[in-house]
Amino acid sequence: MKKYFVIGNPIDHSLSPKLHNYWLKENNIDAIYDKKKIDEKDLLNTILEVKEKKTEGINVTVPFKKSVIPYLDKLSQEAEQTQSVNTITFDNGDLVGHNTDISGFDTAIKKLNFKMKGKKVLILGAGGVVPSIIFALKNMGVQEIIISNRTREKAENLKDLFDNLKIIEWGNLTDFHMVINATSLGLNNERINLDFSSLGHDKLFYDVIYNPQETSFLKMGKRLGHKTENGKTMFVYQALEAFKLWHNIEPKVNADTFKLLDND
Ligand code: ATR
Repeated sequence: MKKYFVIGNPIDHSLSPKLHNYWLKENNIDAIYDKKKIDEKDLLNTILEVKEKKTEGINVTVPFKKSVIPYLDKLSQEAEQTQSVNTITFDNGDLVGHNTDISGFDTAIKKLNFKMKGKKVLILGAGGVVPSIIFALKNMGVQEIIISNRTREKAENLKDLFDNLKIIEWGNLTDFHMVINATSLGLNNERINLDFSSLGHDKLFYDVIYNPQETSFLKMGKRLGHKTENGKTMFVYQALEAFKLWHNIEPKVNADTFKLLDND
C-alpha cells in the first residue's frame, strides 16, 4: 500500500488526511494518507523517506514550507519564486518541491466571480502562505498589493521576492477593494483590532482561516455589508492539485467534499 503524509507543527487540526483518504477511496487507489508532527531536526530524515521509497509523497504545512527547501533536488517555478513548498513528489530520482497553494487561492477567487484586475488588495500578515497569495494576485493583474504585519521586518522581507509591494504599519488602514486576513488571529476567536467601518461597501473580506468557518474578521466584514469568504475552497483546491501531482487523477469536488470538512 502506498503511503503519503502531511508534516507540520502543530498538525493535530490538519484536515488533509480526511480529504485525501476520502478521495483515495473514491478513486479506488490502494494508499493511505497520514499526518506527522515533526521538529525541524527531523526534517531531513522525514524527507529522505520519499527517496528511500518508504513514502510516495509529502504535504508540508506551517512552519516548514520554506525550511524544507534545502533538502529538495528541484523546485517548480512557483515554489522557487515564492520560496514556499507545500507538496513533494519523487520524479526520476529527484525530490521535487511544488507549491499548490497558489492554484488553490486562484481557484477560490475565480469561483467567487470577484474581478481582481486593477484592484487594490490589503494583506494582513506576512507568514508562510503570503508569498503564494501575492504570486496568485500578481497573475490576476491586481493594481496594488499592500502588506501590513505586526513585525514590519517580515513584511519588508517579502520585497526580496516581489516588486512593487507597499508596506504599511500594523494598526493602520488604507483604502482597498479586497482585504485578506493571513494572520493566525481568529483561529482561537481573537479579534483584529482595526476599524473598517468607514470604508464604504462592496469590498471582499477574505480569511485564509477555515476553522472556525467564520472568524470575527469575517463576521465584521459581513456586518458592514461586504462580501466574505473563508479559506476552505483554497484548502480543497490546493489538496486537489497535490492529488493530481501524485496520482494523475483529478478528484471530484462537490457539496459532499465540503460537507466532509464541516463535520470537524
Ligand atoms: P509563521 O510566521 O511561522 O509563518 P504563520 O502562521 O504563517 O506563521 O503566520 C502568522 C502570522 O500571524 C504572522 O504574520 C504573525 O505576525 P508576526 O510576523 O508579527 O509574528 C501574525 N500574528 C500572529 N499573532 C498575532 C497577533 N497577536 N497580532 C498580530 N499579528 C499576529
